[in-house]
Amino acid sequence: MTDLLVARNVSKTYFDTVANDNVVALEDVSLAIRPHEFVSVIGPSGCGKSTFLRMVAGLDKPTAGEITVSGRKITGPGADRGMVFQEYALLPWKTTAANIEFGPRLKKLPKAEREAITRRFVELVGLKGFENKYPHQLSGGMRQRAAVARVLANNPTVLLMDEPFAAVDAMTRQHLQEELTAITARERTTVLFITHAIEEAVFLSDRVIALSGRPGRIVADLAIELPRPRRWDALVNDARFAAYRDELTRCIHGTKA
Ligand SMILES: Nc1ncnc2c1ncn2[C@@H]1O[C@H](COP(=O)(O)OP(=O)(O)OP(=O)(O)O)[C@@H](O)[C@H]1O
Ligand SMILES: [Mg+2]
Repeated sequence: MTDLLVARNVSKTYFDTVANDNVVALEDVSLAIRPHEFVSVIGPSGCGKSTFLRMVAGLDKPTAGEITVSGRKITGPGADRGMVFQEYALLPWKTTAANIEFGPRLKKLPKAEREAITRRFVELVGLKGFENKYPHQLSGGMRQRAAVARVLANNPTVLLMDEPFAAVDAMTRQHLQEELTAITARERTTVLFITHAIEEAVFLSDRVIALSGRPGRIVADLAIELPRPRRWDALVNDARFAAYRDELTRCIHGTKA
């Protein structure tokens, strides 16, 4: 299968105006993601994870190297790449349903089709009954599910997520992780997921890429061959799960400055 997202020798240097010096955020990162693959990128704080995702989203440009999606070089943001941030990406003045319908509306889809898409994604993320609530009337976990639905309703080629569950409590977080794996498996979504939680990465992913401390370089690219569907109650005592977690922990800590 041909790769969907390819990064070739990507580096990113920022100019720090305070220190009057260059900061190398990311160095010579090459990776390829196949269609329907769920790939996580982990690494210590400041190693360039968000920088990499922002470049894939087209919000920032590499200093060297290039990134392509479906063979086309990324030059700016596009609906083919849907982004979910750590903070909720919802329009606060719109209801759950209106937030989800936002993308289909931009595409000028007919009303009946927009409504069908909205219904489908409301159900998919378990927000039936909350269609007419505004973001401030939802819990943190529900808001994040609405944000995922809003992005998926755009039918993106690749879903980009930057620590989307960092702000929710531990129990909700596990629940959202289980839901996300179920949804993306059903929808066959290609996902690039950023986190610094190693267990989260192992739980969710087909493959975990570990970056070193800044400047981020790839120090591991590990296939996670745990069966799906995945559930925390089954995996929490699974020896293979623990082995993946320990191997990635060693990779990251072994390279820390
Ligand atoms: N716009 C910018 N201007 C200057 N430096 C920046 C900018 N954005 C990021 N950096 C620097 O680049 C490095 C990588 O930042 P980045 O946000 O990508 O890290 P991260 O891996 O996402 O960290 P965290 O886990 O804390 O979110 C950091 O040293 C940061 O200070
Ligand atoms: Mg970050």
